[in-house]
Amino acid sequence: MRNIRALGRAAALRFCPPYRRLNDVLRETIQRSAALEQARAALAAEHAALLQRNAELLRQSTTLQPAGAPLDAERTGLQAACATLEARQAALEAECAMLREPVRIRITRGEQSWSIDPAAFETFGFEDGDLLQVTPIEKAAGFPVTWGDVNVTVPSHAIRVPARYGLFEFEGFRIPVHLISLTGAGPETFGWMGQRHVELYDRFTGLAPDMTLLEVGCGIGRDALQFLKLLDATGRYIGIDVTRDSILWCQNNITPRHLNFTFHHFDAENELYNPHGRKRSMDFALPVPDGSVDRIFLASVFTHLFEEEVLHYMREFARVLKPDGKVYASFFLHTPEALAAARRAGTTGWAAKFDIPLSDGVYANDPVYPRGAVAFTDAAMRRLIAQAGLRLARPYLKGGWSGLHADSDDGQDVAILMRAADRQQAPRSDGTAAPSSLAAEAQGR
Ligand SMILES: C[S@@+](CC[C@H](N)C(=O)[O-])C[C@H]1O[C@@H](n2cnc3c(N)ncnc32)[C@H](O)[C@@H]1O
Repeated sequence: MRNIRALGRAAALRFCPPYRRLNDVLRETIQRSAALEQARAALAAEHAALLQRNAELLRQSTTLQPAGAPLDAERTGLQAACATLEARQAALEAECAMLREPVRIRITRGEQSWSIDPAAFETFGFEDGDLLQVTPIEKAAGFPVTWGDVNVTVPSHAIRVPARYGLFEFEGFRIPVHLISLTGAGPETFGWMGQRHVELYDRFTGLAPDMTLLEVGCGIGRDALQFLKLLDATGRYIGIDVTRDSILWCQNNITPRHLNFTFHHFDAENELYNPHGRKRSMDFALPVPDGSVDRIFLASVFTHLFEEEVLHYMREFARVLKPDGKVYASFFLHTPEALAAARRAGTTGWAAKFDIPLSDGVYANDPVYPRGAVAFTDAAMRRLIAQAGLRLARPYLKGGWSGLHADSDDGQDVAILMRAADRQQAPRSDGTAAPSSLAAEAQGR
Protein backbone atom coordinates (compact mmCIF):
# COMPACT_ATOMS: atom_id res chain seq x y z
CA MET A 1 0.00 0.00 0.00
CA ARG A 2 2.87 2.27 0.85
CA ASN A 3 4.47 1.36 -2.57
CA ILE A 4 1.32 2.17 -4.43
CA ARG A 5 1.35 5.47 -2.68
CA ALA A 6 4.94 6.11 -3.53
CA LEU A 7 4.38 5.30 -7.22
CA GLY A 8 1.40 7.50 -7.27
CA ARG A 9 3.46 10.36 -5.79
CA ALA A 10 6.28 9.88 -8.36
CA ALA A 11 3.84 9.87 -11.27
CA ALA A 12 2.13 12.84 -9.77
CA LEU A 13 5.46 14.61 -9.45
CA ARG A 14 6.50 13.73 -13.07
CA PHE A 15 3.40 15.10 -14.50
CA CYS A 16 3.20 17.97 -12.15
CA PRO A 17 4.24 21.13 -14.20
CA PRO A 18 7.20 22.36 -12.04
CA TYR A 19 8.88 18.98 -12.14
CA ARG A 20 8.39 18.67 -15.89
CA ARG A 21 10.22 21.97 -16.37
CA LEU A 22 13.04 20.77 -14.20
CA ASN A 23 13.27 17.65 -16.30
CA ASP A 24 13.49 19.73 -19.47
CA VAL A 25 16.22 21.85 -17.97
CA LEU A 26 18.08 18.74 -16.95
CA ARG A 27 17.80 17.25 -20.44
CA GLU A 28 18.88 20.48 -22.11
CA THR A 29 21.81 20.75 -19.74
CA ILE A 30 22.90 17.25 -20.60
CA GLN A 31 22.61 17.99 -24.32
CA ARG A 32 24.50 21.28 -23.96
CA SER A 33 27.21 19.57 -21.97
CA ALA A 34 27.64 16.98 -24.73
CA ALA A 35 27.93 19.76 -27.33
CA LEU A 36 30.49 21.57 -25.20
CA GLU A 37 32.46 18.37 -24.77
CA GLN A 38 32.44 17.94 -28.54
CA ALA A 39 33.64 21.53 -29.05
CA ARG A 40 36.40 21.08 -26.44
CA ALA A 41 37.59 17.91 -28.18
CA ALA A 42 37.63 19.79 -31.51
CA LEU A 43 39.66 22.63 -29.94
CA ALA A 44 42.07 20.14 -28.39
CA ALA A 45 42.55 18.54 -31.80
CA GLU A 46 43.10 21.97 -33.36
CA HIS A 47 45.62 22.86 -30.62
CA ALA A 48 47.49 19.64 -31.19
CA ALA A 49 47.57 20.37 -34.93
CA LEU A 50 48.92 23.88 -34.27
CA LEU A 51 51.61 22.53 -31.96
CA GLN A 52 52.63 20.09 -34.64
CA ARG A 53 52.73 22.88 -37.28
CA ASN A 54 54.78 25.03 -34.94
CA ALA A 55 57.25 22.22 -34.39
CA GLU A 56 57.42 21.74 -38.14
CA LEU A 57 58.04 25.46 -38.72
CA LEU A 58 60.75 25.48 -36.10
CA ARG A 59 62.40 22.55 -37.81
CA GLN A 60 62.16 24.34 -41.18
CA SER A 61 63.55 27.55 -39.76
CA THR A 62 66.54 25.67 -38.29
CA THR A 63 67.15 24.17 -41.72
CA LEU A 64 66.90 27.57 -43.43
CA GLN A 65 69.09 29.44 -40.95
CA PRO A 66 72.52 28.39 -42.30
CA ALA A 67 71.48 29.59 -45.77
CA GLY A 68 70.11 32.85 -44.38
CA ALA A 69 73.17 33.71 -42.27
CA PRO A 70 75.62 34.11 -45.19
CA LEU A 71 73.02 36.16 -47.02
CA ASP A 72 72.78 38.46 -44.03
CA ALA A 73 76.57 38.68 -43.84
CA GLU A 74 76.73 39.38 -47.57
CA ARG A 75 74.19 42.14 -47.25
CA THR A 76 76.18 43.72 -44.40
CA GLY A 77 79.36 43.37 -46.47
CA LEU A 78 77.69 45.00 -49.47
CA GLN A 79 76.56 47.90 -47.34
CA ALA A 80 80.13 48.38 -46.07
CA ALA A 81 81.51 48.11 -49.63
CA CYS A 82 78.98 50.72 -50.76
CA ALA A 83 80.14 53.07 -48.01
CA THR A 84 83.78 52.48 -48.99
CA LEU A 85 83.00 53.14 -52.65
CA GLU A 86 81.21 56.35 -51.79
CA ALA A 87 84.18 57.50 -49.71
CA ARG A 88 86.56 56.52 -52.55
CA GLN A 89 84.44 58.41 -55.06
CA ALA A 90 84.54 61.51 -52.87
CA ALA A 91 88.31 61.14 -52.53
CA LEU A 92 88.66 60.66 -56.30
CA GLU A 93 86.62 63.77 -56.96
CA ALA A 94 88.86 65.72 -54.57
CA GLU A 95 91.91 64.21 -56.29
CA CYS A 96 90.55 65.14 -59.73
CA ALA A 97 90.02 68.70 -58.56
CA MET A 98 93.59 68.74 -57.21
CA LEU A 99 94.94 67.22 -60.44
CA ARG A 100 93.22 69.91 -62.48
CA GLU A 101 95.14 72.49 -60.48
CA PRO A 102 98.29 73.40 -62.43
CA VAL A 103 101.71 72.55 -60.99
CA ARG A 104 103.60 75.62 -59.78
CA ILE A 105 106.87 76.19 -58.02
CA ARG A 106 106.80 78.47 -55.00
CA ILE A 107 110.08 80.25 -54.34
CA THR A 108 110.70 81.95 -51.03
CA ARG A 109 113.55 84.37 -50.50
CA GLY A 110 113.32 85.96 -47.07
CA GLU A 111 110.15 88.05 -47.05
CA GLN A 112 109.64 87.72 -50.80
CA SER A 113 107.97 84.86 -52.60
CA TRP A 114 107.03 83.95 -56.16
CA SER A 115 104.87 81.24 -57.66
CA ILE A 116 106.14 80.34 -61.12
CA ASP A 117 105.14 78.01 -63.92
CA PRO A 118 107.71 75.16 -64.07
CA ALA A 119 108.35 76.20 -67.68
CA ALA A 120 109.87 79.42 -66.29
CA PHE A 121 112.20 77.53 -63.91
CA GLU A 122 115.22 77.67 -66.17
CA THR A 123 115.07 81.42 -66.68
CA PHE A 124 114.29 82.34 -63.08
CA GLY A 125 117.24 84.10 -61.46
CA PHE A 126 117.76 81.87 -58.43
CA GLU A 127 119.90 83.06 -55.58
CA ASP A 128 121.83 81.02 -53.06
CA GLY A 129 119.47 79.96 -50.26
CA ASP A 130 116.16 80.25 -52.15
CA LEU A 131 113.60 77.81 -50.74
CA LEU A 132 111.50 75.93 -53.28
CA GLN A 133 108.26 74.03 -53.02
CA VAL A 134 106.30 72.28 -55.74
CA THR A 135 102.55 72.89 -55.43
CA PRO A 136 99.92 71.57 -55.01
CA ILE A 137 101.76 69.61 -52.35
CA GLU A 138 99.50 66.54 -52.80
CA LYS A 139 100.30 66.48 -56.49
CA ALA A 140 104.02 66.91 -55.88
CA ALA A 141 103.88 63.92 -53.52
CA GLY A 142 103.24 61.73 -56.58
CA PHE A 143 106.33 62.92 -58.50
CA PRO A 144 109.58 60.94 -58.39
CA VAL A 145 112.06 62.26 -55.86
CA THR A 146 115.69 61.37 -56.50
CA TRP A 147 118.66 62.78 -54.63
CA GLY A 148 116.21 64.94 -52.72
CA ASP A 149 114.99 66.73 -55.87
CA VAL A 150 111.39 66.58 -57.07
CA ASN A 151 111.38 65.62 -60.75
CA VAL A 152 108.74 67.78 -62.45
CA THR A 153 107.76 67.49 -66.09
CA VAL A 154 106.97 70.41 -68.33
CA PRO A 155 105.64 69.71 -71.84
CA SER A 156 109.01 69.18 -73.54
CA HIS A 157 111.25 67.99 -70.73
CA ALA A 158 111.71 67.40 -67.01
CA ILE A 159 113.38 69.54 -64.36
CA ARG A 160 114.87 68.79 -60.97
CA VAL A 161 113.49 71.00 -58.22
CA PRO A 162 115.57 71.00 -55.02
CA ALA A 163 114.07 72.00 -51.68
CA ARG A 164 116.84 74.61 -51.37
CA TYR A 165 118.62 76.21 -54.30
CA GLY A 166 122.29 76.51 -53.38
CA LEU A 167 124.99 78.08 -55.55
CA PHE A 168 128.65 77.12 -55.22
CA GLU A 169 131.29 79.59 -56.39
CA PHE A 170 134.01 77.75 -58.30
CA GLU A 171 136.70 79.39 -60.44
CA GLY A 172 134.38 82.09 -61.74
CA PHE A 173 131.34 79.82 -62.09
CA ARG A 174 128.25 79.68 -59.87
CA ILE A 175 127.22 76.04 -59.86
CA PRO A 176 123.85 74.76 -58.56
CA VAL A 177 124.62 72.61 -55.52
CA HIS A 178 121.79 70.14 -56.15
CA LEU A 179 123.39 69.30 -59.50
CA ILE A 180 126.81 68.88 -57.91
CA SER A 181 125.19 66.38 -55.52
CA LEU A 182 124.37 64.14 -58.49
CA THR A 183 128.09 63.39 -58.82
CA GLY A 184 127.74 61.51 -55.54
CA ALA A 185 129.78 64.14 -53.65
CA GLY A 186 129.32 67.71 -52.51
CA PRO A 187 130.91 71.11 -53.26
CA GLU A 188 133.67 70.55 -50.71
CA THR A 189 135.39 67.93 -52.91
CA PHE A 190 134.26 69.33 -56.29
CA GLY A 191 137.59 70.84 -57.33
CA TRP A 192 139.76 68.17 -55.79
CA MET A 193 137.83 65.25 -57.36
CA GLY A 194 137.84 66.80 -60.83
CA GLN A 195 141.56 67.39 -60.57
CA ARG A 196 142.17 63.84 -59.39
CA HIS A 197 140.14 62.42 -62.30
CA VAL A 198 142.10 64.36 -64.87
CA GLU A 199 145.41 63.35 -63.28
CA LEU A 200 144.37 59.69 -63.57
CA TYR A 201 143.19 60.15 -67.19
CA ASP A 202 146.52 61.69 -68.05
CA ARG A 203 148.52 59.08 -66.19
CA PHE A 204 146.76 56.07 -67.71
CA THR A 205 145.72 57.29 -71.16
CA GLY A 206 147.95 60.32 -71.84
CA LEU A 207 146.45 63.72 -72.67
CA ALA A 208 147.47 66.50 -75.03
CA PRO A 209 146.07 70.05 -75.46
CA ASP A 210 144.93 69.47 -79.03
CA MET A 211 143.01 66.28 -78.37
CA THR A 212 139.33 65.61 -78.98
CA LEU A 213 137.94 64.43 -75.66
CA LEU A 214 134.50 62.95 -75.16
CA GLU A 215 132.90 62.33 -71.79
CA VAL A 216 129.80 60.20 -71.31
CA GLY A 217 127.99 61.07 -68.08
CA CYS A 218 129.76 64.42 -67.70
CA GLY A 219 127.18 65.62 -65.16
CA ILE A 220 127.60 69.25 -64.13
CA GLY A 221 131.05 69.41 -65.75
CA ARG A 222 133.26 68.53 -62.79
CA ASP A 223 135.91 67.16 -65.16
CA ALA A 224 135.10 69.55 -68.02
CA LEU A 225 136.01 72.51 -65.78
CA GLN A 226 139.42 70.90 -65.24
CA PHE A 227 139.89 70.24 -68.97
CA LEU A 228 139.42 73.99 -69.52
CA LYS A 229 142.91 74.37 -68.06
CA LEU A 230 144.38 71.62 -70.22
CA LEU A 231 142.96 71.92 -73.72
CA ASP A 232 144.02 74.73 -76.02
CA ALA A 233 141.94 76.24 -78.82
CA THR A 234 142.78 73.31 -81.11
CA GLY A 235 141.45 70.80 -78.62
CA ARG A 236 137.82 69.89 -78.31
CA TYR A 237 135.61 68.56 -75.54
CA ILE A 238 132.18 66.95 -75.98
CA GLY A 239 130.12 66.21 -72.86
CA ILE A 240 127.03 63.99 -72.79
CA ASP A 241 124.57 63.31 -70.01
CA VAL A 242 120.98 62.25 -69.38
CA THR A 243 120.47 64.95 -66.72
CA ARG A 244 119.09 67.85 -68.71
CA ASP A 245 119.48 70.43 -65.92
CA SER A 246 123.21 69.71 -65.72
CA ILE A 247 123.69 69.79 -69.49
CA LEU A 248 121.71 73.02 -69.74
CA TRP A 249 123.85 74.62 -67.05
CA CYS A 250 127.02 73.57 -68.91
CA GLN A 251 125.62 74.85 -72.23
CA ASN A 252 124.67 78.20 -70.67
CA ASN A 253 127.76 78.69 -68.56
CA ILE A 254 130.73 76.85 -70.08
CA THR A 255 130.13 76.85 -73.85
CA PRO A 256 129.62 80.65 -74.21
CA ARG A 257 133.07 81.20 -72.68
CA HIS A 258 134.74 78.19 -74.35
CA LEU A 259 133.24 77.45 -77.72
CA ASN A 260 135.29 74.26 -78.16
CA PHE A 261 133.37 72.76 -75.20
CA THR A 262 129.96 71.46 -76.23
CA PHE A 263 127.34 69.56 -74.26
CA HIS A 264 124.58 67.23 -75.40
CA HIS A 265 121.53 65.93 -73.62
CA PHE A 266 120.47 62.33 -74.21
CA ASP A 267 116.90 62.05 -72.93
CA ALA A 268 117.43 58.41 -71.96
CA GLU A 269 115.49 57.00 -69.03
CA ASN A 270 117.42 56.36 -65.83
CA GLU A 271 115.30 55.93 -62.70
CA LEU A 272 117.73 58.02 -60.65
CA TYR A 273 119.13 60.62 -63.00
CA ASN A 274 116.35 61.03 -65.56
CA PRO A 275 113.18 59.31 -64.32
CA HIS A 276 111.04 61.02 -66.97
CA GLY A 277 113.42 60.13 -69.82
CA ARG A 278 111.48 59.40 -73.00
CA LYS A 279 114.05 57.24 -74.80
CA ARG A 280 116.71 54.64 -74.08
CA SER A 281 120.48 55.02 -74.18
CA MET A 282 120.46 52.70 -77.18
CA ASP A 283 118.49 55.30 -79.17
CA PHE A 284 121.41 57.74 -79.13
CA ALA A 285 124.52 57.81 -81.28
CA LEU A 286 127.50 59.76 -79.97
CA PRO A 287 127.36 63.15 -81.76
CA VAL A 288 130.78 62.82 -83.41
CA PRO A 289 132.02 61.29 -86.68
CA ASP A 290 133.63 57.85 -86.92
CA GLY A 291 137.29 57.66 -85.90
CA SER A 292 137.43 61.24 -84.60
CA VAL A 293 137.96 60.99 -80.82
CA ASP A 294 141.26 60.67 -78.95
CA ARG A 295 140.02 59.96 -75.45
CA ILE A 296 136.72 58.94 -73.91
CA PHE A 297 136.04 59.20 -70.18
CA LEU A 298 133.33 57.72 -68.00
CA ALA A 299 133.75 58.47 -64.30
CA SER A 300 131.24 56.41 -62.33
CA VAL A 301 128.84 55.94 -65.24
CA PHE A 302 129.03 52.21 -66.07
CA THR A 303 128.21 51.88 -62.36
CA HIS A 304 124.73 53.24 -63.24
CA LEU A 305 123.99 51.38 -66.48
CA PHE A 306 122.54 48.02 -67.47
CA GLU A 307 124.43 45.59 -69.68
CA GLU A 308 122.74 46.58 -72.96
CA GLU A 309 123.47 50.26 -72.28
CA VAL A 310 127.14 49.56 -71.57
CA LEU A 311 127.36 47.44 -74.72
CA HIS A 312 125.71 50.17 -76.79
CA TYR A 313 128.12 52.83 -75.56
CA MET A 314 131.10 50.50 -76.04
CA ARG A 315 130.05 49.85 -79.65
CA GLU A 316 129.82 53.59 -80.15
CA PHE A 317 133.32 53.97 -78.68
CA ALA A 318 134.64 51.43 -81.19
CA ARG A 319 133.05 53.54 -83.93
CA VAL A 320 134.22 57.01 -82.87
CA LEU A 321 137.68 56.28 -81.45
CA LYS A 322 140.71 57.18 -83.49
CA PRO A 323 142.91 54.14 -84.17
CA ASP A 324 145.09 54.96 -81.15
CA GLY A 325 142.22 56.35 -79.11
CA LYS A 326 141.58 55.21 -75.55
CA VAL A 327 138.67 54.90 -73.15
CA TYR A 328 138.96 55.34 -69.40
CA ALA A 329 135.83 53.77 -67.89
CA SER A 330 135.40 53.19 -64.19
CA PHE A 331 133.10 50.42 -62.94
CA PHE A 332 132.52 48.06 -60.01
CA LEU A 333 134.33 44.75 -60.50
CA HIS A 334 132.17 42.03 -58.89
CA THR A 335 134.46 39.55 -57.13
CA PRO A 336 133.82 37.53 -53.95
CA GLU A 337 136.94 39.09 -52.41
CA ALA A 338 135.84 42.67 -53.11
CA LEU A 339 132.33 42.03 -51.78
CA ALA A 340 133.65 40.34 -48.63
CA ALA A 341 136.04 43.23 -48.07
CA ALA A 342 133.28 45.82 -48.62
CA ARG A 343 131.06 43.99 -46.14
CA ARG A 344 133.86 43.77 -43.59
CA ALA A 345 135.00 47.35 -43.90
CA GLY A 346 131.60 48.94 -44.66
CA THR A 347 133.43 51.20 -47.08
CA THR A 348 130.63 52.15 -49.44
CA GLY A 349 128.13 53.59 -46.99
CA TRP A 350 125.38 51.98 -49.08
CA ALA A 351 126.08 48.38 -47.97
CA ALA A 352 127.48 46.94 -51.20
CA LYS A 353 126.10 43.44 -51.68
CA PHE A 354 125.47 43.26 -55.43
CA ASP A 355 123.27 40.21 -54.93
CA ILE A 356 120.51 41.04 -57.42
CA PRO A 357 121.26 39.43 -60.79
CA LEU A 358 120.34 41.68 -63.74
CA SER A 359 121.89 39.64 -66.53
CA ASP A 360 124.75 37.18 -66.93
CA GLY A 361 127.47 38.42 -64.55
CA VAL A 362 125.77 41.79 -63.96
CA TYR A 363 124.42 42.60 -60.49
CA ALA A 364 122.45 45.40 -58.86
CA ASN A 365 122.51 46.38 -55.22
CA ASP A 366 119.07 47.93 -54.81
CA PRO A 367 115.85 46.35 -56.12
CA VAL A 368 114.01 49.70 -56.24
CA TYR A 369 116.78 51.67 -57.94
CA PRO A 370 118.72 48.95 -59.77
CA ARG A 371 120.82 51.54 -61.60
CA GLY A 372 121.80 53.05 -58.24
CA ALA A 373 124.85 50.77 -58.32
CA VAL A 374 125.62 48.06 -60.89
CA ALA A 375 128.60 45.69 -60.77
CA PHE A 376 130.10 43.48 -63.48
CA THR A 377 132.08 40.28 -63.10
CA ASP A 378 135.36 40.07 -64.97
CA ALA A 379 133.77 37.59 -67.42
CA ALA A 380 130.82 39.92 -68.08
CA MET A 381 133.04 42.95 -68.60
CA ARG A 382 135.36 41.05 -70.96
CA ARG A 383 132.37 39.65 -72.87
CA LEU A 384 130.98 43.16 -73.46
CA ILE A 385 134.38 44.55 -74.41
CA ALA A 386 134.86 41.78 -76.99
CA GLN A 387 131.29 42.06 -78.34
CA ALA A 388 131.80 45.78 -78.86
CA GLY A 389 134.98 45.32 -80.87
CA LEU A 390 137.21 46.74 -78.13
CA ARG A 391 139.97 45.28 -76.01
CA LEU A 392 141.58 45.98 -72.66
CA ALA A 393 144.68 48.11 -73.19
CA ARG A 394 146.06 46.95 -69.84
CA PRO A 395 144.88 45.09 -66.71
CA TYR A 396 142.07 46.79 -64.79
CA LEU A 397 143.08 49.58 -62.41
CA LYS A 398 142.23 48.55 -58.88
CA GLY A 399 139.32 50.37 -57.28
CA GLY A 400 139.34 51.58 -53.71
CA TRP A 401 135.55 51.29 -53.21
CA SER A 402 135.62 47.91 -51.47
CA GLY A 403 138.64 48.50 -49.26
CA LEU A 404 140.23 45.38 -50.78
CA HIS A 405 143.16 47.19 -52.39
CA ALA A 406 145.36 49.33 -50.19
CA ASP A 407 147.18 50.39 -53.38
CA SER A 408 144.10 51.43 -55.36
CA ASP A 409 144.36 53.95 -58.18
CA ASP A 410 140.80 55.18 -58.67
CA GLY A 411 137.87 54.98 -56.27
CA GLN A 412 136.37 52.43 -58.68
CA ASP A 413 137.90 49.69 -60.79
CA VAL A 414 138.83 50.97 -64.23
CA ALA A 415 138.92 49.45 -67.71
CA ILE A 416 141.26 51.18 -70.16
CA LEU A 417 139.99 50.24 -73.60
CA MET A 418 141.11 50.52 -77.20
CA ARG A 419 139.69 49.42 -80.51
CA ALA A 420 140.28 45.67 -80.86
CA ALA A 421 141.80 46.07 -84.30
CA ASP A 422 144.41 48.60 -83.17
CA ARG A 423 147.97 47.86 -82.18
CA GLN A 424 148.56 47.94 -78.44
CA GLN A 425 150.76 50.81 -77.38
CA ALA A 426 153.38 49.28 -75.09
CA PRO A 427 152.70 50.49 -71.54
CA ARG A 428 155.60 51.51 -69.35
CA SER A 429 156.88 49.04 -66.77
CA ASP A 430 154.63 50.61 -64.08
CA GLY A 431 151.61 50.16 -66.35
CA THR A 432 151.02 53.89 -66.95
CA ALA A 433 150.74 55.51 -70.39
CA ALA A 434 153.74 57.00 -72.14
CA PRO A 435 154.34 60.53 -70.77
CA SER A 436 151.84 62.98 -72.19
CA SER A 437 152.56 66.47 -73.34
CA LEU A 438 150.32 67.71 -70.52
CA ALA A 439 152.31 65.86 -67.90
CA ALA A 440 155.48 67.16 -69.51
CA GLU A 441 154.01 70.67 -69.51
CA ALA A 442 153.08 70.33 -65.86
CA GLN A 443 156.65 69.27 -65.10
CA GLY A 444 157.99 72.30 -66.97
CA ARG A 445 159.35 70.29 -69.91
C1 LIG B 1 127.95 59.53 -60.41
S1 LIG B 1 127.54 60.67 -61.64
C2 LIG B 1 129.14 61.11 -62.25
C3 LIG B 1 129.16 62.41 -62.97
C4 LIG B 1 130.51 62.80 -63.56
N1 LIG B 1 131.10 61.76 -64.33
C5 LIG B 1 131.43 63.24 -62.45
O1 LIG B 1 132.28 62.44 -62.05
O2 LIG B 1 131.28 64.35 -61.98
C6 LIG B 1 126.89 59.67 -62.93
C7 LIG B 1 126.46 60.45 -64.14
O3 LIG B 1 126.05 59.55 -65.16
C8 LIG B 1 124.95 60.12 -65.83
N2 LIG B 1 124.21 59.06 -66.54
C9 LIG B 1 123.37 58.15 -66.03
N3 LIG B 1 122.89 57.36 -67.00
C10 LIG B 1 123.43 57.78 -68.16
C11 LIG B 1 123.31 57.37 -69.52
N4 LIG B 1 122.53 56.37 -69.85
N5 LIG B 1 124.01 58.04 -70.45
C12 LIG B 1 124.82 59.07 -70.10
N6 LIG B 1 124.97 59.50 -68.84
C13 LIG B 1 124.28 58.87 -67.87
C14 LIG B 1 124.18 60.77 -64.72
O4 LIG B 1 123.25 61.71 -65.17
C15 LIG B 1 125.29 61.38 -63.89
O5 LIG B 1 125.61 62.67 -64.31
